[in-house]
Amino acid sequence: MKLRIIGIAVGAALAIPLSAWGQEIGATATLRPTAGNSAAGTVTFTRKGDKVAVVANVTGLSPGPHGFHIHEKGDCSAADAMSAGGHFNPGGKPHGDPATADHHAGDMPQLVADANGQATLNAELSPMAIGGADDIVGKAVIVHKDADDYKTQPTGNSGTRVACGVIAKS
Ligand code: CU
Ligand code: ZN
Repeated sequence: MKLRIIGIAVGAALAIPLSAWGQEIGATATLRPTAGNSAAGTVTFTRKGDKVAVVANVTGLSPGPHGFHIHEKGDCSAADAMSAGGHFNPGGKPHGDPATADHHAGDMPQLVADANGQATLNAELSPMAIGGADDIVGKAVIVHKDADDYKTQPTGNSGTRVACGVIAKS
């Protein structure tokens, strides 16, 4: 019994600073399918210098590329997720490829699903932040049905929204 109490005390002492650290630098979105779709997964965001490291794991997609963005409203309540509004764009930029200079802050690399409908993504993006200017917390992550052409304004013509999740501090 004594050993068990000591174990709990040590565990608590370690857990408190770790969770405080995590709240400062990380955020997570749990993606849920919109009506009639099956896409689901998780996206984590971790501050990395002046960029944010994004790690996404999504299942239930059709094979191939899918537009993947942060949208301006953290509201996935509509059956088609149109409640999440347009792309997160605090800088007033055109829609574009995040690898180029001019793009919405919410424009992310496409999710490319394999033959089993699974997609993973690892990317470091800017301008994007967890807290402060360009804060993504409280916005929504959207996965689209089709590929993002990175040209059509202001959406990339990536079709309907197949999954949505609100970004929360983790
Ligand atoms: Cu989108
Ligand atoms: Zn965009």
